[in-house]
Parts: sequence; structure tokens; C-alpha cells
Amino acid sequence: MSQKNGEGAPVAQEKINTDIVTLTRFLTEEQSKHKEATGDFTLLCHALQFSFKSIAYYIRRASLINLSGLAGSSNSTGDDQKKLDVIGNDIFVAAMRTSGKCRLLVSEEEEKCLVFDENPKARYAVVCDPIDGSSNLDAGVSVGTIFGIFRLAEGSQGKQEELLLPGSELVASGFTMYGASAQLVITMKGGNVNGFTMDNALGEFILTHPDMKMPKSRAIYSVNEGNSLYWQEEVKEYFNSLKYPIEKSGKPYSARYIGSMVADAYRTLLYGGIFAYPADKKSPKGKLRILYECAPMAMVFENAGGQAVNSRMERMLTVVPEHIHDRSGIFMGSYDEVQKVIDVHKKHGH
Ligand code: AHG
Ligand code: MN
Ligand code: MN
Repeated sequence: MSQKNGEGAPVAQEKINTDIVTLTRFLTEEQSKHKEATGDFTLLCHALQFSFKSIAYYIRRASLINLSGLAGSSNSTGDDQKKLDVIGNDIFVAAMRTSGKCRLLVSEEEEKCLVFDENPKARYAVVCDPIDGSSNLDAGVSVGTIFGIFRLAEGSQGKQEELLLPGSELVASGFTMYGASAQLVITMKGGNVNGFTMDNALGEFILTHPDMKMPKSRAIYSVNEGNSLYWQEEVKEYFNSLKYPIEKSGKPYSARYIGSMVADAYRTLLYGGIFAYPADKKSPKGKLRILYECAPMAMVFENAGGQAVNSRMERMLTVVPEHIHDRSGIFMGSYDEVQKVIDVHKKHGH
């Protein structure tokens, strides 16, 4: 470009994408693919989207306040400051209640299933872990929100027992990771997995990772190895086989463990490998919750081409919780990596 005197340096031509797919646009386009859709599901997702944006905002703000040391343990009116776990839950509950489309809500932070009688005609139930990985919060390590959506059966009485369903009944699931930026991953039953990145300036989730497919294999394992004393023999044998390969040419796997399921899952989804929280002698049922941690993640992983099984090597999406906060062991990740753990268990007659 020629430049006349006094006109300053030429401005570099930045290529601006004016045709951005936001989550809002994505949901509208999805809805139009289903002629029978009433728009209820889309509205519910908009309410979910708002809760993710709010939680992301409060997490960012909390770190800032902690860093600059401006806040003590009480606020200006003298009330104790609410922990982010509670704030996250309150945001989620309010968003679901006021969406008008949610009848039942199971949250990790609520002992009983919440029944929104003000929305008696609402046809959806939501399960959620509002802040997953909260022990990492004060260290500024990524945490997340996990969610799943069920459609209630015709003639539903709005009872919590109606939610003792396998993950295969989920109509949608996903998670948002609050990291350097907020990343939302969502999938619908039998559909693709799509990843969105929060653009803070626009205040919108932008489709940045369309049709996510995870690598078929990758030499990375993610597990709390501090529990290995309590592991079953099969589990010990499996992890040892990754660390001490039999073939001389074989390289040992890398270990990566953040301790926030959402963050470990997101990395595993992108890079491949395996994430595990096995049931063990100390926690015979496992640690992670079936309804709002294991099942939604299993659906994401399967739809991205991976596998997810419990500690009995049953497909995670077929596991029915006995109560709403029931737990399970879980192995999830790249297809071939999960197959290896299944094969070790098979050898032992499972
Ligand atoms: P939450 O913060 O919702 O209670 O979940 C914590 C979970 C999960 O995020 C993580 O994978 C696991 O607990 C970590 O457990 P350990 O500290 O036992 O490794
Ligand atoms: Mn959790
Ligand atoms: Mn939690």
C-alpha cells in the first residue's frame, strides 16, 4: 500500500470474521433442524448459558479480590462471604427456576432434588455439579460446571425417583471449564461434540471447536496415584503396564493430574489419553457421582469417539444410580486407551 506523507503508517489489514457462530446462533440453528421442537430446550440452554457466564464472572472476580487482599471473610454488611460453591449453586438454581422449562434439578450442593412447582408444565430435568474441582479454587487452578439434561416422561409427577436413569437417557450434556478463558463443551444425544470459547468482550460463547473428535490413543494417564495403595489388583496391573512397558522399545506414559475432573477431562478430550477415578478398597463405590459427573462426561466422550466404563467395566452410560448422589468408579478417554483397561480386567475374568 502506498503511503502519502503525513498520513501515518499503513494499518495492517486484519481479517475480521463477520460470520461468527455464537452459542445462541448454534442453538437456534439446531432447533430449526427439529420441526417438532417447541423452543423449550433452546430456552433452557439459554438459561444454562447465562449461569455459566455468571459463574465464570464470579470466579474471575474472586481471584482478583483474593490476589489484591481486599476482601476478608465478611462483606460490607457483615455477612460471611459465601463460598463459590454456594454462589455457583445459587446462580444455577435461580437460572433453572426462572427458565420456566426446568421441573427438577439435582445439584451436588443440594441434598434433595429441587422440584420447581411454579413450572408444573416444564418438561426437562437438569443435573449439575455447579463447581467441580472446588478444592483447587484458591490456587487459581481451573474448575468447571458439569451438566446433564433429561426430558421427563409423559405424565411425569415431578418426583426425584424419576431421575434414577442411565446416562443413555440424557438428551444433552456437557461442561464448562473456567480456565484462562471459559470453554463450553456440549453434546446432544447421538450428536456431535461442539466446543465454544467465551469471548469476554462480546459476552458470547463462540464456536471454536466444531465436531470435536478425540485421538484414538495417546500415552497420557490421569489418576490420583496417591490412592494406589487401595486399588484392586487389576487396576494396579493396568497402570503398571503403562509405566513399565514390557517391550523394550515401549515408552512409559506421561502422567497428568489436575484434580479437577472438568480440567482433566477437557485436556483428555483434546489431547487423548485416559482419565480414571477407580473404585477402590477405601471407596468401594468410587468417588465421582453418577448422575452429574460420570454420566454427562461419558456422553461427551462417547460422542467424541472415546469410551467410558465403570470399575466393573460396564459401559458408563448404562449404569443406573440407586439414589441421586450415588457414586461410581470411572475410566474414560481415548477408545484404544480405555480398551486396554477393559482387556486387563477381562484377563482377570471380569
Ligand atoms: P467437587 O469439587 O465437585 O467435589 O469434585 C472434585 C472431584 C473431581 O473434580 C476430581 O476429579 C476429584 O474430585 C479429585 O479428587 P482427589 O482429590 O481425591 O484426587
Ligand atoms: Mn465434582
Ligand atoms: Mn462440586
